[in-house]
Amino acid sequence: PPLDEILNLHDFENKAIAKVILPDTAWAYYSSASDDEITIRENRAAYQRVWFRPRILRDVTVVDWSTTILGQKSSLPVYISATALGKLGHPDGELNLTRAAGKHGVIQMVPTLASCSFDEILDAAQPDQPLFLQLYVNRDRSITKRYVQHAEARGVKGLFITVDAPQLGRREKDMRMKFVGDDAGAKVQENMSGVRKDEGVARAISSFIDPSLSWKDIPWFRGITKMPIILKGVSTPEDAILALEAGVQGIVLSNHGGRQLDTSRSGLENLIEIAAALKTRGPWPNPNFSVFVDGGVRRASDVLKALALGASAVGIGRGFLYAFCSYGEAGVEKAFKILGEEFEMNLRLLGARNLNELVPEMVDASALQAH
Ligand code: FNR
Repeated sequence: PPLDEILNLHDFENKAIAKVILPDTAWAYYSSASDDEITIRENRAAYQRVWFRPRILRDVTVVDWSTTILGQKSSLPVYISATALGKLGHPDGELNLTRAAGKHGVIQMVPTLASCSFDEILDAAQPDQPLFLQLYVNRDRSITKRYVQHAEARGVKGLFITVDAPQLGRREKDMRMKFVGDDAGAKVQENMSGVRKDEGVARAISSFIDPSLSWKDIPWFRGITKMPIILKGVSTPEDAILALEAGVQGIVLSNHGGRQLDTSRSGLENLIEIAAALKTRGPWPNPNFSVFVDGGVRRASDVLKALALGASAVGIGRGFLYAFCSYGEAGVEKAFKILGEEFEMNLRLLGARNLNELVPEMVDASALQAH
């Protein structure tokens, strides 16, 4: 359907599109989650257990949903989370995101396993466009060091180290497909060795990741870069406190879009107890320690719930991925526009003129705290 018939982020996935037009391999790789796909379902369900407590009569003529993320201006309290292998779904791959993000002041997290090379992506960005880097740590640390320092030299503003993937989860939908190593995979294969092509896309591209990564490595990262370091894939208060103590600049409460340990809880649900734990160790929200959430976010109302509970900003993966698979760069621009309209309306209806006016009392999250 024409782009103006797309009314929300779900439409990119269902109505038109990604599901219908994508080759089987791409759909299997993008949509799959691990094992019985319980966690991916829970990521959506958790948002539906949180209810708003809207306030009235607050003169909401003018509302503003812009923010800063790790010190960088963002037109939305949302960033584009890293999703690998964009060219499986569209010939321009990740560049669709880079260009749209540059036009609209949104921040893209560039994946280590992008289909486009890192420099191609950076070259497609506007001169002062902020970008983040998602890092899979190589067994050969000299490769990682070179990659990180190159990113910093090119002006990347934040390093998101993925810590929930010492091994890739079993994504059976994906495993049933054979990875043929086409053009989409060609670029990332330059960094790989011992690739197995018979186990689905995810496994084929991930064999270089170092499962020995541990807390002891954090000082090494601190030593090779001045970028803010964020640990992506934290699920417990215990690890949130360790991250704070390790001196990193933040964490992402994430289960990798349900693609890693199945039946782990959603980032939103974990936010409640992690916020409670962090509150005992300093200011909350803490200006020097950002807490991001991702997984299952498709509506501005989802984002507002996470922000009300203390999240600094929220990541969206598949929502933007499916937008560019279906309509290229224009699809991503449309997704930003839809979210902007949803923010405007929902902030008005909630009685908040800006994101600072979002407070925990604006949501009833009691159904999340039951465990
Ligand atoms: C991902 N994600 C991911 N994360 C990461 O750290 N490195 C990666 O290479 C990828 N690749 C990737 C591919 C695909 C197809 C998906 C769907 C996801 C996880 C991603 O950054 C984010 O955590 C989730 O996508 C968030 O959930 P939603 O928004 O997709 O529901």
